[in-house]
Amino acid sequence: MKKTLLGFLFVLASCVVSAQQLKSPNGNLTMDFALQSGGVPTYKLDYKGKAVIKTSKLGLELKKDEKSLLDDFTVSDTQTATFDENWKPVWGEVASIRNQYNELAVTLKQNKTDRVMIVRFRLFDDGLGFRYEFPTQKNLVYFVIKEERTQFAMAGDHTAFWIPGDYDTQEYDFTTSKLSEIQGLMKKSVTANLSQTSFSDSAVQTSLMMKSADGLYINLHEAALIDYACMHLNLDPKTLTFQSWLTPDAKGDKGYMQAPCTSPWRTVMVSDDARDIVASKITLNLNEPCKIDDTSWIHPVKYVGVWWEMITGKSTWSYTDELPSVQLGITDYTKVKPNGKHGANNANVKRYIDFAAKHGFGGVLVEGWNQGWEDWFGHSKDYVFDFVSPYPDFDVKMLNEYAHSKGVKIIMHHETSSSVRNYERHIDKAYQFMKDNGYDAVKSGYVGDILPRGENHYDQWIINHYQYAIEKAADYKIMVNAHEAVRPTGICRTYPNMIGNESARGTEYQSFGGSKPNHVTLLPFTRLLGGPMDYTPGIFEMDLSKLNPENHSHVNSTIANQLALYVTLYSPLQMAADLPKNYERFIDAFQFIKDVAIDWDDSKYLEAEPGQYITAARKAKGKQDWFIGSVGGNDPRTSNINFNFLDKGKTYVATIYADGKDAHYKTNPQSYNIRKVLVTNKSKLSQWVASGGGYAISIVPATSENSKGLKKL
Ligand code: NOJ
Ligand code: CA
Repeated sequence: MKKTLLGFLFVLASCVVSAQQLKSPNGNLTMDFALQSGGVPTYKLDYKGKAVIKTSKLGLELKKDEKSLLDDFTVSDTQTATFDENWKPVWGEVASIRNQYNELAVTLKQNKTDRVMIVRFRLFDDGLGFRYEFPTQKNLVYFVIKEERTQFAMAGDHTAFWIPGDYDTQEYDFTTSKLSEIQGLMKKSVTANLSQTSFSDSAVQTSLMMKSADGLYINLHEAALIDYACMHLNLDPKTLTFQSWLTPDAKGDKGYMQAPCTSPWRTVMVSDDARDIVASKITLNLNEPCKIDDTSWIHPVKYVGVWWEMITGKSTWSYTDELPSVQLGITDYTKVKPNGKHGANNANVKRYIDFAAKHGFGGVLVEGWNQGWEDWFGHSKDYVFDFVSPYPDFDVKMLNEYAHSKGVKIIMHHETSSSVRNYERHIDKAYQFMKDNGYDAVKSGYVGDILPRGENHYDQWIINHYQYAIEKAADYKIMVNAHEAVRPTGICRTYPNMIGNESARGTEYQSFGGSKPNHVTLLPFTRLLGGPMDYTPGIFEMDLSKLNPENHSHVNSTIANQLALYVTLYSPLQMAADLPKNYERFIDAFQFIKDVAIDWDDSKYLEAEPGQYITAARKAKGKQDWFIGSVGGNDPRTSNINFNFLDKGKTYVATIYADGKDAHYKTNPQSYNIRKVLVTNKSKLSQWVASGGGYAISIVPATSENSKGLKKL
């Protein structure tokens, strides 16, 4: 027995040529780097003695004749460092963020080629980040990546919450399954989208959330995706090992590199408490500090919009039904008959502005204001919009003046139809047009297949476009909310004018057939780890045939669940997406959307379980007010929270917006009740949550006026 063990240890030792270890600041995480025989770099990660990532290979395969950066390495240097600082985001979930890690940088020298690659590891208390770095050197200047070959060998057949790998869309519902079941469920999980490219029946997107049988929560993602292709994860179902799979460009290449350069960070978040994952700031911390000197013009905003009425088919983006084709500059809109259903008309926009002003919203998004919508996708059309020519019934100057006179700003809309070349062709004029007319925020969009033809939504070429649009917008002091762009990776730390992104399945899908009721419990564990989402919550009328008799879709959520989303889905940009008339019908519930803050000094996750529930409490920036949101999944449940985050010795008034006893996302979504009680930091709440339901609470310090006649919770 002893002999066998000794022999085994001998074999192990002879495989490892060189090894370094890194511990997290609190010692819970251990990362081991090792060079295996043949000079193959590997790493592994343990949490409290349990394997999270088993020994996994590192490296990149290069195109054609280049020797790949996979083996034949020796360690020529190792450097360690510790880092601990607090930084203040321009907007965020908390006023100050701690960035604390231990670092190991391993310099690898490839023997035959004399080339150098550094692997830099940063180990935080809640996870690992690592990236490849290519310093300036003679023998590695320009190179083309065939594939990045980073492995993530999982230590068990975990439960995974995944969406299919796709080069062009992220707008999928999550599938929950064991890792080993992904392949069998892939076909069913790929639902229709206007642009989509599946490439492997074992590939999933990041951020990927997993839970092990023994209660470890593990998340794989990336941070600081700049000048590089977005990473998918391809699973080998036999070994349960993921390997990076980059998005190819039109030629099938995966990255054109010029040293000095780096890859994005690959991240592995891990904890035995799910709340640590949703609260993690690893993605932001791995991005560069803010590069915008003057950020005074960047501000969170709550908005309404001429939008849901088009999404539901009640009105149209197009001005007329008479034009099968549009040629900008030639088509004369004054000569065609309006269709009578155009949403972005002066009178309607004014109504939204009035509504916004009356209820304290800062923005009104108007889509369908510009010429070209009659013919905007499906034909790979290059010159599709010019972003400066309004329809005859949309008076840019008058409407902006009207909005400004009421303390409201119109939010610009640039649907590019994925004609990226055309957008770049017009971008300066388009942003200048915004400045000239008083707009300071733009929602952009990338529906349909990318032009230049053959490029994909997440390849290196277009990642550079998204970045170009953000940086250019910053030059014009414009805030950006990009839809269908690549999933965010924390770049909003560096460019906080990126106040929103869609890049996942948003509320619009409730009008295109519905989303799973537990979708919103998964977004904070996945998509939101990279940055805020323009999810567009706040739908009160779930039966969409009431808006458009031809729309038979149902919003799978209760009203109380919709309210809670303003707290559970953190974003400095929050829409009240429903029609004003639906808010007027439920004006007491609408009060929560009016009151809820959008910028925060503090955030606490009180309960969290992927796919089942999230309960968050947040303290409004510069105020004593707190807001709580709790969303559930498919099954009804009882949420138990306490209020120990409140100041000791103070009494507060809590207004609780909860599901009615008979509420259900499908059969009775509009059943809710509202009650007011007094709470202190000793209070406890046991609150029932319906199927697809939730609750929202606003908490303000008690005064003699607002607390009259109220009972303690
Ligand atoms: C898709 C976006 O997600 C949606 O919000 C927008 O209204 C349409 N594209 C049209 O641009
Ligand atoms: Ca979309």
